[in-house]
Amino acid sequence: MKITPHPEKTFGATITNIKVSNITTSQFQQIEDAFNQYGLLIFKNQHLSMSEQTEFGKRFGEIEHLVQGRPEMESVNIANSGGKANKLLFESSMKPNTSRHFATLLGNEVWHTDSTYTPVSSKCALLQAMELPSTGGETEFADARAAYDDLDADMKRKIEHLNAYHSLHYSMANDESIFPKVGDAYGYDGKAYLRPLVKIHPATKRPNLHIGRHAHNIVGLSREESVRLIDDLNAFTGSKAEYVIRHKYSVGDLVLWDNRRLLHRACPYDYYNEKRVLQATRIKGESSERYLEHLQEAKLSEAVLAQELKILRHLHQENVFSIEPLACKTFGAKIRGVDLANLSEGDFEKINQAFVEYGLLIFPKIGLDPETQEKFASRFGKLRFNGTPMGNYVDEYKKGEIFALDKTGMKINVGNEQWHFDDTYQPQSATGGLLTCEVMTSWGGGTGFLDARAAYDTLPEELKNEIKDLKAWHSNEFSQAMDVGWIPPRGLIPIYHGKAYLRPLIKIHPKSNRKTLYVGRHAFGVEGYSRERSFELLEKLNSHCRENEERMYIHNYRRGDLVLFDNRCIMHKACEYDYSNEKRKLVGSRILGTVETESSIQGVDENGRIALENELNAIRQDMEQGIFRPRLQTYQNAVEKLISQKKNGRVIASL
Ligand SMILES: [Fe+2]
Ligand SMILES: [Fe+2]
Repeated sequence: MKITPHPEKTFGATITNIKVSNITTSQFQQIEDAFNQYGLLIFKNQHLSMSEQTEFGKRFGEIEHLVQGRPEMESVNIANSGGKANKLLFESSMKPNTSRHFATLLGNEVWHTDSTYTPVSSKCALLQAMELPSTGGETEFADARAAYDDLDADMKRKIEHLNAYHSLHYSMANDESIFPKVGDAYGYDGKAYLRPLVKIHPATKRPNLHIGRHAHNIVGLSREESVRLIDDLNAFTGSKAEYVIRHKYSVGDLVLWDNRRLLHRACPYDYYNEKRVLQATRIKGESSERYLEHLQEAKLSEAVLAQELKILRHLHQENVFSIEPLACKTFGAKIRGVDLANLSEGDFEKINQAFVEYGLLIFPKIGLDPETQEKFASRFGKLRFNGTPMGNYVDEYKKGEIFALDKTGMKINVGNEQWHFDDTYQPQSATGGLLTCEVMTSWGGGTGFLDARAAYDTLPEELKNEIKDLKAWHSNEFSQAMDVGWIPPRGLIPIYHGKAYLRPLIKIHPKSNRKTLYVGRHAFGVEGYSRERSFELLEKLNSHCRENEERMYIHNYRRGDLVLFDNRCIMHKACEYDYSNEKRKLVGSRILGTVETESSIQGVDENGRIALENELNAIRQDMEQGIFRPRLQTYQNAVEKLISQKKNGRVIASL
């Protein structure tokens, strides 16, 4: 037996040269030790029968029966096919499929830990790949112990004694908008179970974040604060490369993971056309996995759940148009219950008003195709473009190969990781942007949004006065040079046009009349200021924008999510991901600004050209003297490493 720990992650090991259906007691001891140490074990080439898998599972504890009234079923198939003919169960349609089975598969795509919605949550679980789709369908794991360790001291103190309720009724309603009745299937018992946010692992005695999609209504916090804290902790656990393993199965792979330490989730695949069958065994927890039944609040669980479901029913139930502001943020709202392909004038007006008020609208899993997105986007104004893939590959280009990190497309992508407003480097800046998520990565890859109105409102009075009449130039050649250390060749693509456009530092929103701090990565050369003083002022304003998390929100996409953001008051940025190894695709549309309200300050074209030329020359000089540091230094380091490897003849496909 060979145990190989994952070289780059905080957890996980691969085990080869052993078949787990045929092991000695001392080999099991080694496996159990590895399980406690690594949290995730991947056994290659197992090809176990259902009973062999069950028997191996029983070595870890009591089997958890997942099918109500069928105690003989100790392991089960998790699949999108079934019946005597083993046929695919779901038909593709633009409308979301509302069957409970389908919703269960989709629900598994959200980070969770198994069976926290039962009195005794699961100790560990086994999945073996029996039948696989050609792409997708992986399982991802995230280390909630490493994530806990990396929390700052304040957060650790804050969550130390907090408890949350866990319920499958809640997660299915919240994530999939379905409301099964008590007794419908395993886990729907009308109850919620109180558990600590920080769980001490019974074997390692280490603290772990004990969260996931089933957690709700933290005791002692408002509903808003609770939603936000659980969202933040779940997102943080899935946010870093070293915490996350995406396991791409081969048939016969068996994975075993520790539910008391890791979160996991399923990756989407083509549910309608390809089969995926995983053989699953779940092991019950021990007394340490029992809920906090001795606490007074445990007795309130049914009432808390009923009240929560009432709220969710109101927000999610089909065809009920709802606008739900983001928890604890100065902006943003989720919209449900609309059919954007057939939107009445009245409903469009409501959405348009919400767009102006909240600045960011999220339509969870609405799944627009590019034509419907274009139709919807066009109602806000003329489009600059539609259906443009935003990511690290293009389906039709070179068979969908991932772009190399040092290619122009990636320089543009990575540059977008600095906060910005779109098109401020064009004669008319943008009114808004739309992004639909088609393909998402195991970690990162989200979009960050920032409320620049709230940023303006909270500026110190003297700074407001200082910038009242100031203007800055905007150029994408400048921002590319500053952010990724690359001065784009003039004319390579139309946005490298050699012009800069002058805009005020305070933009008045044409609809709400609210003042916006209009800065971001494209701005440079404040008029009337020296280069140094201008840099200093812009950096001060940009960093003020980032100061407070109530005005920032990172959207971690699920497939089919649509975001619509107001480029006249909300900045955004792309979030890093594993560019070289994982694909990411958002489909973008951009709404052109109107001439009357989004035009740059006219009649200064020649000054703009000169300002940009001077700025680029100064950057060039700094580069030549070796004193230039791009704002995204990590990218620069990665590219330099790639180039030196190419020079040394050690060309590798990825970094
Ligand atoms: Fe699961
Ligand atoms: Fe952008």
